[in-house]
Amino acid sequence: MARGFFITFEGGEGAGKSTQLSRLADRLEAAGRDVVRTREPGGSPGAEAIRSLLVTGEADRWSPTTETLLMYAARRDHIERVIAPALARGAVVLCDRFADSTRAYQGAGGGAPASLISALEAEVLGDLRPDLTLILDLPTASGLARAAGRGGGEARFESKGLAFHERLRAGFLAIARADPDRCRIIDAASEEAVVGASVWAEVKALITR
Ligand code: TMP
Repeated sequence: MARGFFITFEGGEGAGKSTQLSRLADRLEAAGRDVVRTREPGGSPGAEAIRSLLVTGEADRWSPTTETLLMYAARRDHIERVIAPALARGAVVLCDRFADSTRAYQGAGGGAPASLISALEAEVLGDLRPDLTLILDLPTASGLARAAGRGGGEARFESKGLAFHERLRAGFLAIARADPDRCRIIDAASEEAVVGASVWAEVKALITR
């Protein structure tokens, strides 16, 4: 049986994660891999119910600490019901956001205590870490402009203001610097196909390692 791989896509708003995840999934499926496409917050029925609490409503609906706890409640359900079983059967799990988003959004952006986030990571994730994390990086203003063009009712985090989004971008870059074996920064300002080629190069290096 093929070994499972856990690959996460991270980045600010409007970086094109979902598009790139879908391109990569198509390519892996064409190569005969069992692929699971999923996202956070969400990815299981229970976690999707928690997602709707998190991504709708006023910007100050939840404090950063409460958001952290809700994110981790959703994440635990997603891991138990979707991610861990898929990896156990040898699938490639492609997840649109994961634990690094909590460090960046709630931690660097919102100021939730790093000690709380580290404790939840240790307790809730156990040994589970992504094999590869692709951080799609884009100047903050262009990402927010792209995200605004998308519309929809899930704009709670988008509405938090430019300074928040600058902090979370810096947060993602710091995560990448601290964990260079796992994380790759991908320049998301290029054309979709060019970004896709960078993504594929990293994934190919992982799965043929
Ligand atoms: P999405 O727009 O990429 O689907 O993500 C939904 C929102 O949730 C997005 O604004 C980022 C935010 N988020 C966090 O704040 N912390 C987290 O841990 C995750 C997974 C997402």
